[in-house]
Amino acid sequence: MKKVLVVGGGGREHAIVDALSRSPQVGKIYCAPGNAGIAAQAECVPIKDDQIEALKGFALANDIDLTVVGPEISLAAGIVDAFAEAGLRIFGPTKAAATIESSKDFAKQLMAKYEVPTAAFATFSSYEEALDYVRKGQFPVVLKYDGLAAGKGVVIPETLEEADAALKDMLLDDKFGHGKVVVEEFLTGPEFSFMCFVDGERVWPMTLSQDHKRAYEGDKGPNTGGMGAYSPVPLITEEDLQFAMDKVMKPVAAGMVAEGCPFKGVLYGGLMKTPQGVKVIEFNCRFGDPETEVVLPRLESDIYDIFSAVADGTLMPYIRWKKEMTMGFVMASKGYPGSYEKGFEIKGLDRLPEDIRVFHMGTSCREGEFFTAGGRVLMVVGTGADLQEAHDKALAAVQSIDCGNLFYRKDIGWRVL
Ligand code: AMP
Ligand code: GLY
Repeated sequence: MKKVLVVGGGGREHAIVDALSRSPQVGKIYCAPGNAGIAAQAECVPIKDDQIEALKGFALANDIDLTVVGPEISLAAGIVDAFAEAGLRIFGPTKAAATIESSKDFAKQLMAKYEVPTAAFATFSSYEEALDYVRKGQFPVVLKYDGLAAGKGVVIPETLEEADAALKDMLLDDKFGHGKVVVEEFLTGPEFSFMCFVDGERVWPMTLSQDHKRAYEGDKGPNTGGMGAYSPVPLITEEDLQFAMDKVMKPVAAGMVAEGCPFKGVLYGGLMKTPQGVKVIEFNCRFGDPETEVVLPRLESDIYDIFSAVADGTLMPYIRWKKEMTMGFVMASKGYPGSYEKGFEIKGLDRLPEDIRVFHMGTSCREGEFFTAGGRVLMVVGTGADLQEAHDKALAAVQSIDCGNLFYRKDIGWRVL
């Protein structure tokens, strides 16, 4: 039986642990650092996701057969390079390949070079030049801090004053650190998440999902890590999907090989179906969160086989998906994505119907009781023959969870219901 280490401690890692626990080959799952919900399915190890040397030491000392990495922070810190050097099997991209997420400018240059459809753009490190470019262009405009910013480095100003303030934050005051800004054309249309297993030039699609990035109902309020998701996405046709494979994911995978940084792991295309066709909004170098919580429950194949095929470069099994559909609501601490308080008791988790899956994003546990411990706290997922049924079950479950400091969006799935 195999021993697996999952790195990370959010809802995404809970869903990865949950999928691994269904594999008949997997005997023991560790999760570092994990969380209070993950502890029911894996042994949590108190090592943070950016403590690469400590994680490597743990994997060596415990004869881990395979390590699976959730967060971008671990990947950008070079966990895959460090593990590979030590002869450890690991699922995820190298630090160089992770640049597709950690630098927006790298991703845009790559897309330009390999003719992958995306918004027109220009990159600046000078505040004056950026402001001048924005002044001559159209509004709204999209401003993206070049480096990792936990989903908070993108602003979409409607006016020159707002753009000026955001550029000052990013380029003069170094709000996210010292770096560049990508200025992008504003695109419109529904967004969807296309995650693929990638091993160099080989690309295997996962079923589609759709996230809800804005904090409040009606897609209002600030951008967040994601407030809910569902899978599959009926708005996207077979042709759209084929286009996304042939004109986006495959050329990007091939481009990464040609650039000398072949990608291994999950390549996440954040795509938009614009009136001019499918275009790329962003790439991530990992599973999405909360998308993974609605996608992996639909996976019928053994995920250990899939991770192994990518990690070892061997034959990929045929990936089978369940027909049943999923929809999930994120319950977040009041104030998120801004500042929020922690430590509120969550009641009702033990009274939920059996077919409801609760993935813990940020909880702690004391004497059997759960407490809020993060911005996003729970992802509550319903399953049904169609998205309406999945929605109704998940919403009823969310409404029965009792906590004084959580909020959620009731309109998850509005585009398809
Ligand atoms: P990103 O971190 O690049 O995914 O951007 C966060 C969110 O900002 C996206 O999910 C979109 O909703 C929005 N966004 C980013 N780029 C654009 C664009 N070029 N046009 C319209 N909206 C965008
Ligand atoms: N839910 C979007 C992301 O994982 O980046």
